[in-house]
Amino acid sequence: MSRPTVLMSGPLSEEVTTACEARFELIRLWEAPDYEALVAARGPEVLGIATGGHVGRVSAELMEGLPNLQIVSNIGVGYDTVDVVEAARRGVIVTNTPGVLDDEVADSALGLLLMTVRELSQAERYLRAGRWKGRPYRLTPNRLAGRRMGVLGLGRIGESIARRAQSFGVTVVYHNRREKDVPYRYYPNLLEMAQDIDILMVVAPGGAETRHLVDAEVLRALGPGGVLINIARGSVVDEPALIAALQSGVIRSAGLDVFEHEPEVPQALIDMEHVVLLPHVGSASVDTRRAMGQLMVDNLATWFDTGRPLTPVAETPEEGSPA
Ligand code: 8YV
Repeated sequence: MSRPTVLMSGPLSEEVTTACEARFELIRLWEAPDYEALVAARGPEVLGIATGGHVGRVSAELMEGLPNLQIVSNIGVGYDTVDVVEAARRGVIVTNTPGVLDDEVADSALGLLLMTVRELSQAERYLRAGRWKGRPYRLTPNRLAGRRMGVLGLGRIGESIARRAQSFGVTVVYHNRREKDVPYRYYPNLLEMAQDIDILMVVAPGGAETRHLVDAEVLRALGPGGVLINIARGSVVDEPALIAALQSGVIRSAGLDVFEHEPEVPQALIDMEHVVLLPHVGSASVDTRRAMGQLMVDNLATWFDTGRPLTPVAETPEEGSPA
């Protein structure tokens, strides 16, 4: 039996590339000197795409050149760089990597929350600058325990964050499109939730539906003691509105692992001392990235072997018949 051809949309880890090469005929899209010539010559043989949020979009235009495409396998739980509407229209399955990164991202979220509320990176910079000898670092306005945190997007990762936050003495509430069977108060309205909380924890997926959900109005409702943490996607927050809110004291602080135009980070954010900025490291340990890469490859392999991917996303078909 001939090996299925898989197109890799951009450079993934060496381990993932080796695993793909062992099972599939691999085409490296980014190495092609002439993209159009590559698609014209080899497009029809491509049955699968291996991709990840940081290595290029899987657009309608790309899929157009791959008439026999069956599956797009994405490293990462978020798949906003894949045009799922177009994939669904073509009957192409999209898979992601849920579950294997929940603990890591939740740990990172709590780390970022503590860094922001207790000003830990600011305090470290203070020590390194030799300023402790002058006087102790200032007291932070609040402790974390006793705060109310609103989770925007209570999925698997949101629940992992909520459990951890509870053990830190934080009261958890949430806003989702639909209420869930969980022991946290539900707010059908984001603005109302923002008025009632101290910390807004953004865990909602990216994409058109959630774009700029956190806007100037939500930030105003969060208020001058409010802290915004975003571990999800930069697009969920209106970045210019956030910058304005931070500059004018509309909210107190923000801890951001994600940005609207990564890896570009607005200079205005970098210039603000009281904001904590991380380079999208929520899931970035060797262990977790290895598990994510393995699940991405397993989705392709299982699809080609059985016609049932392991972790298909909700918008596209769940099974089919591989050639
Ligand atoms: C990764 C992520 O940085 O899972 C996600 O949606 O954002 C991160 O875990 C990303 O997927 C790498 O491609």
